[in-house]
Amino acid sequence: MHQHRTFDSAVALQGWFSAWGPASIANLGPGFDTLGLCVTGYADKVAVRLKEEPGIVITDIENAAVPLSRNAEENTASVAAKVVLDAVKFTGGLEMIITKGIPAGSGMGSSAASAVAGAWAANKALGLPLSKHELVRAVLEGESIASGSYHGDNVLPALFGNLVLVSAKEPARYREISIRKGPFMALVQPEVQILTKEARAILPKQVPLWDAVQNASELAFMLDAFQHGDWDMVGRCIMKDKLVEPVRATLLPCYHEIKEAALAEKALGCAISGSGPAMFALATDEIHAYRVLAAMTQPNRAGIRVTGKVVQVNTTGAE
Ligand code: HSE
Repeated sequence: MHQHRTFDSAVALQGWFSAWGPASIANLGPGFDTLGLCVTGYADKVAVRLKEEPGIVITDIENAAVPLSRNAEENTASVAAKVVLDAVKFTGGLEMIITKGIPAGSGMGSSAASAVAGAWAANKALGLPLSKHELVRAVLEGESIASGSYHGDNVLPALFGNLVLVSAKEPARYREISIRKGPFMALVQPEVQILTKEARAILPKQVPLWDAVQNASELAFMLDAFQHGDWDMVGRCIMKDKLVEPVRATLLPCYHEIKEAALAEKALGCAISGSGPAMFALATDEIHAYRVLAAMTQPNRAGIRVTGKVVQVNTTGAE
């Protein structure tokens, strides 16, 4: 991010500016903290208005299924927006209204979507002084407030759209992978909350070498399959995670039932989205995706309500 850019406050101290941060599916099976896909269907919206006094004030959070902090130091949208204000040396502050379209703790990149929308709305209010590439640090900072770590596999796809490959160790190192014609997917949300922080805390600190090797190999095949539009292979690969999903499945009582229902309906593959509880399945076409969705959302033995949508790859990202 270019620290030397400044902002002429006289130009834009007026009106509200809003931005959407879309949902994303992180991990995609073997790509833990490394791969994320931006999707249609769900998004958070952030509206901001610049003010002369410094500081960010969150005046409202609409449509939040669970209480979210209005403290500007604790919300991903305001933390990301603050980095943007500081980057352009804006001496004033802003008012912010967040509208949640993605439930927190759903596994669809809710905190990331808010961070992206917050950063992009602030950037818009300032007259777009920064490019999306220059917002990467801001969105990573925002996301880290919610998840307790700097993983970029939700924020970067939500920012850029498409599929994004990101370094797990240095999340500011990434590659956008453009998908021309993405698959239809059923994306479902079991009505239980799994916080990313908790879903990360239960993961083992060490794993068997052979499992790590298998994950690396499946991830490589999956990337190749994405680039060639080989959705059969993508579907097979998303089910090959040996390291993370088997552990996290224990947090979701209806996991096996939802997966079996999707596969019985001939989904190409099914896996947990991000840290869960959301799950997604790949379909061959739109009609098939609706059949898979119906199977995944039917009543389960655990009595957990499951809702969902048919989604596709979002190629735009924040807008
Ligand atoms: N890669 C992150 C995780 C994504 O699985 O913890 C969180 O949605």
